[in-house]
Order: sequence, then structure tokens, then C-alpha cells
Amino acid sequence: TFPKRVKIVEVCPRDGLQNEKNIIPTPTKIKLIDMLSEAGLPVIEATSFVSPKWVPQMADHAEVLKGIRKFPGINYPVLTPNFKGYQAAVAAGAKEVAIFGAVSELFTRKNINCSIDESLQQSYEILKAAQAASIPVRGYISCVLGCPYEGKISPAKVAEVAKKLYSMGCYEISLGDTIGVGTPGIMRDMLSAVMHEVPVAALAVHCHDTYGQALANTLMALQMGVSVVDSSVAGLGGCPYAQGASGNLATEDLVYMLTGLGIHTGVNLQKLLEAGAFICQALNRKTSSKVAQATCKL
Ligand code: HMG
Ligand code: MG
Repeated sequence: TFPKRVKIVEVCPRDGLQNEKNIIPTPTKIKLIDMLSEAGLPVIEATSFVSPKWVPQMADHAEVLKGIRKFPGINYPVLTPNFKGYQAAVAAGAKEVAIFGAVSELFTRKNINCSIDESLQQSYEILKAAQAASIPVRGYISCVLGCPYEGKISPAKVAEVAKKLYSMGCYEISLGDTIGVGTPGIMRDMLSAVMHEVPVAALAVHCHDTYGQALANTLMALQMGVSVVDSSVAGLGGCPYAQGASGNLATEDLVYMLTGLGIHTGVNLQKLLEAGAFICQALNRKTSSKVAQATCKL
């Protein structure tokens, strides 16, 4: 059975923009986030406090976080890879952070230049400080349905890392198909394993759409009781350290499907489409959202 309401975590300002080669002006990023807030998204991942040497596009993280309008009731988490990033995020006013781990040694090395164990240690330091400061921490796990460097990933491995992050204090675990290779059957097997270790209410899915499976994989997760879904307006997205991966599930397409299923999201599709059109125009790029492209209306 499907959940009655779904919380959408909008990741375009971070996942959608981090892979863009040309530096996007800070006011454009701020306007995008304000438009997404106007559209009623309950969670908008605003930026990431990663090294500007690694991801130059996110170098203006503090200005972005300080510049956006903070709507009451909307959370604006930011990604923090290490303690330095956590401290900078809090200094810039972050009220929620997200840490990221993976189930693949090689991906972790390429993405954050350390081993899985070292990354868990860094996450632990952040979680301890965040708990003391009453800052909620979300945990990402990348490559849950396949890795660009290690290939197939066992559901048991994902369940093990998910359990660790959850028991360390992450309030929600977002399971990322970073390279968009999964199909619904693999999603089902992975989730079954993870749901033995972490309550389904604390799980989210984060599907990239490289093979056109993101919406189908998300639907499978919803059927299994997951009620938090990450997506990106206009389907923008990609990790600089997962070459060939395309964008995230488009938020417009997700909202359209959920509305059709009678599932409440609180998102205004028209305003969401306007936000998507705005960022596509700013990037001079065509939207990847099917709903945004559709010209036939009911
Ligand atoms: P490193 O080079 O091993 O770090 O990188 P280091 O400690 O040796 O520091 C190198 C330099 O960076 C130093 O500066 C540090 O001060 C600085 P220098 O002394 O040379 O002038 N530095 C920082 N600066 C700002 N903020 C920081 C920070 N940390 C160090 N937080 C590091 C390690 C983790 C920093 C690096 O690998 C990094 O930034 N990686 C981020 C990669 C990234 O952003 N990937 C994309 C996000 S993850 C994703 O997209 C997946 C997801 O969407 C889910 C999914 O799809 O599966 C979440
Ligand atoms: Mg991602």
C-alpha cells in the first residue's frame, strides 16, 4: 500500500548544480531556491560545504545559505563531508546537515578521498557535535544499486552501512542510486534487506535517471512503504565523481505521478514548473522533466 503523503526532498540547488561546469552566479542560485520555497517544497537541500578545490561550483555555499529567504516550516539542509565543512555550515547558519557515505571503497576514495571506515569516523564526529547542538543529521548512502568502480553491490552491504549510520544518530537515511543503473527488482531486494535494520519511516530513496528507471524505482519504494523521496527540478543532477551518470528523478514528474495516485505532497506543480523553467533558462539547457516537456494537457 502507498503512503498517504510523501515528503519530497528537493536536491536541485546542490545535486542539480554541483556538476555544472560554468560557475552559476550566486543570485541565480538564491532565486532558484526562493522559487522552490514558493512552490511549497518542504525540504530544499541548499548547497554543500565541500572543498572548493574539489567542487568549485559550490564555493559560494555560505553566501547562498545566508542569501535565501527562509520560509517557516521549510528545512534547508546542506551537505557536509567532514568536520571542517560541518563547522563552516553551522557558522553560516545551517539548521540541518547531511553527511555522505557509500557502500563502495573505490567510490568513497574518488568522492571524498578516504576509506569507508574513515568516512564513518568523520560522520561520527559530525553527529556528536550536531547532537550537542540539536542539529538534525541526514545520512546519504551512495551506490546502493551499483557502483561505477565496483559494479554490483550486495543488499546486505547496504543494510550494514545503513544500520551503522542510523545507530550513530542519522534521523533519515537516503539511499542513492548514484549512477542510475538500478531496476525495480534490485530496488526491492535492496530495500527488503535495509528494512530489516532501519525502520521504513526513516528511509528515503534518491534515484538518478541514467537508464530511465528513476520513476519506476521510486514507485517500487513507495509500494514498499517509503514516504520520503529525493528529486531535482528539471531533472538536473549528477555527481562529479560518478562519470556518465545523469540527472536525478525530475521533481515535476514525481509530483505529477503522486498527484495521480492521490498522494499528498503540498507542492504546487505550476510554481514548480516555473522554477524549472527559470533554472533551465539560466543554464541554457533543455529540461529533462517529461512533464515540463509535455504539451498535451488533460
Ligand atoms: P582532501 O583533499 O582529502 O582534503 O579532500 P584535505 O583535508 O586534504 O584538504 C584539502 C584542502 O581542502 C585543504 O585546503 C582544506 O582546508 C580544504 P588547502 O590547505 O589545500 O588550502 N578543505 C575544505 N574546504 C572547504 N570545505 C571543506 C573542506 N575540507 C577540506 N569541507 C574532501 C577531502 C572531503 C574535502 C573532498 O574530497 C571533497 O570536498 N569532496 C566532495 C566531493 C563532492 O562534493 N561530491 C559530490 C557530493 S556526493 C553526491 O553527489 C552523491 C549524493 O547525491 C547521493 C547519490 O547520488 O548517491 C549525495
Ligand atoms: Mg545524487
